[in-house]
Amino acid sequence: MQWLQGILLRVTNEVANDWWRDAVVYQVYPRSFADGNGDGTGDLIGVYDKLEYLSALGVDAIWLSPFYTSPLADGGYDVADYCDVDPRFGTLADFDLLIGRAHELNIRVIVDIVPNHSSSEHPWFREALAGIGRDRYIFRDQPNDWESIFGGPAWTQVPDGQWYLHLFDPSQPDFNWSHPDVHAFFKDVLRFWLQRGVDGFRIDVAHGMIKADGLPDVGALGHRQIELMTTAELPYFDQDGVHEIYREWRPILDEYGAMAVAEAWVSSPARLARYIGRDELHQAFNFDFMVAEFDAKSFRVVIEKSLAEAELVGAPTTWVLSNHDKPRHVTRYGGLARARAATLLMLSLPGSAYLYNGEELGLDEVTDLPPELREDPAFLRTGESRDGCRVPIPWAEGAWTNPWLPMPARWDAITADKQEHDPGSTLNFYRQAIRLRRGFRGDIQWLDVADGVLSFRRGDRRVVLNTSQSPVPIEGTVLMASGPVTDTLPPDTAVWLADR
Ligand code: BGC
Repeated sequence: MQWLQGILLRVTNEVANDWWRDAVVYQVYPRSFADGNGDGTGDLIGVYDKLEYLSALGVDAIWLSPFYTSPLADGGYDVADYCDVDPRFGTLADFDLLIGRAHELNIRVIVDIVPNHSSSEHPWFREALAGIGRDRYIFRDQPNDWESIFGGPAWTQVPDGQWYLHLFDPSQPDFNWSHPDVHAFFKDVLRFWLQRGVDGFRIDVAHGMIKADGLPDVGALGHRQIELMTTAELPYFDQDGVHEIYREWRPILDEYGAMAVAEAWVSSPARLARYIGRDELHQAFNFDFMVAEFDAKSFRVVIEKSLAEAELVGAPTTWVLSNHDKPRHVTRYGGLARARAATLLMLSLPGSAYLYNGEELGLDEVTDLPPELREDPAFLRTGESRDGCRVPIPWAEGAWTNPWLPMPARWDAITADKQEHDPGSTLNFYRQAIRLRRGFRGDIQWLDVADGVLSFRRGDRRVVLNTSQSPVPIEGTVLMASGPVTDTLPPDTAVWLADR
């Protein structure tokens, strides 16, 4: 009997640990989410205070963008201490409180891990500048032609004449992953957070840690190198060696039943598939959906491609429409109606959906922030800035005193408290969609429809999205819609239907 109990326990654990497969994961950008101590910067106590709100929204997990000790030169993706909380965000005790309450509410917690680079304020880099342990980073006597993702050269010279590599800002030196200290260090970091109870990790720049031997030039291709990221092989991205790192990490994750999702920008679905599997990571972000046009055909192409990729790796795909690096989808698609329609489509797809804080309020991109308030390091180098999607969340009028970025006056009409009891609000639309999403079963079967319309069946439900200019007839019982519908579906609207 004991052997049977053993098998049952293993199966139960595996099923319980597979929660991520169809999860709704809510990304919290801690600096902008909620301000617990009234200093104008969001913090972990702010997140703790909003856990009931997140539970009512119905999310399965939260992913916390970095809250570690950091000069915040890149919003915290420049980590000076991987095992502590920046005082602006709170303390480790606050983190423990947060995770404890999240688990009570059945919300899992994913944290971001940033292994490609540290902050230049990290003790190892300070030592390196003083000439100690320089080989934990990538120092050379001469730079090569590599470019920073944020614009300009990827090398900065130090006073003694050497140059160090930074694929991002000069304040984000790249680790040298050929050094055993770096391997040992990150395994400890994983364990540190796993022991505090985290359920998973989002791996930042998961395709970046290993650089091609000899650091060869990319060559004069007449493009900004970043534009080649998803089409060509670059000597600093997606090198085979990264997989050895994930094979080292996987047993540690398995020991704690934790998952990991990779932020990996690679040149083909087959290359992305290599990150996933029983001995590497559980999931990778699928950014194709996020960059698709609001158009039935583009969505269909991306969905089919993503499902084929998922088949390849035997793990369901992820869907995302907004995050802290891209303009919010209300603005990208040209309005709330389209954004809600795209959201309803996303939440009907098989796999997990990642939401970005504030999208459930229908927030748009803040495009008119004065230049002097913009903090994105890319802004100074390229004029492009990600600050507009990082503006603090409008909980209620005056909820923030002196927020680190100003909120536009137009958001006063769509604060969370105003939307709370309005049945037509975007907040209640998200709540309903997340709740009803659980009823979708099975694979997608595409249905023949007119140009500009996308429709499929999953089990006893049908989904229709109208991206054309004219209304289209619909049949069946409306479970929910992204906007008003009758027996026709207006343009820029999506609907979930049950068979009569
Ligand atoms: C994060 C960005 C960050 C970069 C460097 C990413 O891909 O999502 O916000 O600037 O990594 O860490």
